[in-house]
Formats: sequence, C-alpha cells, structure tokens
Amino acid sequence: MILVAGGTGRLGTLLVARLAKRGLDVRVLTRDPARASHLDGVANQIVVGDVRDRASIEDAMRGVHLVVSAVQGFTGPGRVTPATVDRDGNANLVDAAAAVGADVVLLSIVGASTDSPMELFRAKHAAEQHLRASATSWTIVRATAFMELWAQIMAKPIVFGRGDNPINFVSVSDVVGVVERAVTEPSLRGQVLEVGGPQNLTFNELATMLQDIRGGRGKVRHVPRWVLRTIAPFALQARAALTMDTTDLTFDAATTRAAFTDLPMTDARTALSGTQGEPQSHF
Ligand SMILES: NC(=O)c1ccc[n+]([C@@H]2O[C@H](COP(=O)([O-])OP(=O)(O)OC[C@H]3O[C@@H](n4cnc5c(N)ncnc54)[C@H](OP(=O)(O)O)[C@@H]3O)[C@@H](O)[C@H]2O)c1
Repeated sequence: MILVAGGTGRLGTLLVARLAKRGLDVRVLTRDPARASHLDGVANQIVVGDVRDRASIEDAMRGVHLVVSAVQGFTGPGRVTPATVDRDGNANLVDAAAAVGADVVLLSIVGASTDSPMELFRAKHAAEQHLRASATSWTIVRATAFMELWAQIMAKPIVFGRGDNPINFVSVSDVVGVVERAVTEPSLRGQVLEVGGPQNLTFNELATMLQDIRGGRGKVRHVPRWVLRTIAPFALQARAALTMDTTDLTFDAATTRAAFTDLPMTDARTALSGTQGEPQSHF
C-alpha cells in the first residue's frame, strides 16, 4: 500500500491517478474527506489525518510500504504554515513511516536551504535533513515553481513587484512523471532529483503569455514593491513575492532531464494553454 499525503492537491491528484492506473494500491491522507471526493473510484482508500498531529496519522500507516509527502503549508485552509506542515508535519510523517519500515518520497523545492530568505524553502530543507537522518530509505524530488499554479494565481493579469526577474517554471505534469518514477523505482533511493522546466521566464513574460492565450487585452497591473514591503511583516505571501522579485530563481533543468530522457518537458505555452477553464485561486 502506498500512502499519499497531499493526495488531494494539484500534484497529488495527478500522482494518485497515475499510480492507480499502474494497478498499485493507493491510500490518500486528507484533513477533510470532502476534499478527496474527486478521488472516489481512483484511490483505494481515503483516510483522515493531519500531519501536524502524529497520533492522527498512525492508523494511516497500517500496511504501508511507501509514503509520498506532497503536502505544503505555504497557503491553504486550516491555518497552515511552512513550519508546522513542511518542517514539523513532514518530520511526523517520516517518523511514522520509519516506525512501519516504509520508504519515503518527499516533495521539496529547488533552492531549499538553511539560509534561504524564504520560510518555505528553509522548512523544506529541514524536512530533507530529517529524512536523511532517519532510518528510512528515501528519495527527494525538488521542483521549481509550478506553472499551472501561477496561471491560477494570475487569473487576473497581476504581477507582484517589477516582474522582471527570471524564474524557472515547470509543468506539474512533468514533475509528477519524475515522482512516479521515484515511487516505482527502488534504484532511485538515496537520490535527490531536481526537476525544472525548459524556460526561465519573468512574471512580465508570463503575464503577457497568459493574456495572449486568454485573448485578454487589459493592462497588466503591478503590486509595487513598496506595497509588498509594507505588508511583508504580516504576510508570508508578500515576503515570498518580494523574494521572487529580487533573488536568483533561475534553474538549468538539463541534469535531471538527462536521466529521464523519455519523460516530457512541457514548454510554458503548452502548460499554460492547458489551464484554461481551471477554477480560480484562493490567493
Ligand atoms: N506549487 C509549486 O509551485 C511547488 C513547487 C515546488 C514544490 N512543490 C511541492 O509539491 C508538493 C505538491 O504541491 P501542490 O502545489 O500540488 O500542493 P497543493 O495543491 O497546494 O496541495 C497541498 C496538499 O497538502 C495537504 N495538506 C496541507 N496541510 C496538511 C496537513 N496539515 N495535514 C495533511 N495534509 C495537508 C492538502 O491536503 P488536504 O487539504 O486534503 O488536507 C493538499 O493535498 C508540495 O509538497 C509542494 O511544497 C510545489
């Protein structure tokens, strides 16, 4: 049995479908079964638990040989934070997996490090360290920013900051292909796989591309840096937006891609075109 924590999310939903298609038994962990209703008939089991509460995930581990962590606490319902979900929640998951002898595939972020200006990146790094120090066999998949998420956030043509800083974006469907490999190929244990997309794009370029695809003509609105700086002390997302506007987030996807030449590498326009008609973001 494979347990997917975060199986109700953007990446998790695609992963659960792929694993089920392979005939693998999949159990999805969610805090609210209503959020897993779209997985009825896809996942074998839906179980309720919160990674912040170790006791609540013990039952979910029964009979599990591999745990995928695709959770995030950067945004979303339930007063989540990177510290409680990405750092401490992942530590709980790893410890619970180790207790039943299950392998762990951890979703992390390209650039995760102890001295990153982004709280989320520091929390992911802490999770990686906890996993490496555990007795569990592991694979870490680090991805750059999901294009589909940003298409949703930019449902209205809005750019945070100046928008002229190049950033690597990847299609979530490409990331899920690598995660699927990490789940199904034990030879990838002990490896860190970094996945990025073929292009480094600025938010201004992304906004222009989205307008082009959506046939919009309105002016792209900018939230100026001074506004972000004013909100930053109180809002994690504003702090992250400032960092994305000012630090190097480019990535050369060649290394991991060379190891997975049969997996797709979707360009930005194709990925963004596929997001037409998706529901709006809660950002
Ligand atoms: N989005 C990106 O740009 C990006 C980039 C690099 C890496 N990643 C990583 O890729 C993974 C998937 O990202 P995503 O964008 O697909 O995520 P998402 O759509 O935002 O989904 C988040 C998932 O986390 C679960 N979750 C949150 N708090 C939880 C808690 N306390 N207990 C249990 N589950 C909890 C949610 O489950 P319920 O609400 O059902 O409980 C949901 O399934 C994450 O690990 C993320 O950090 C994302």
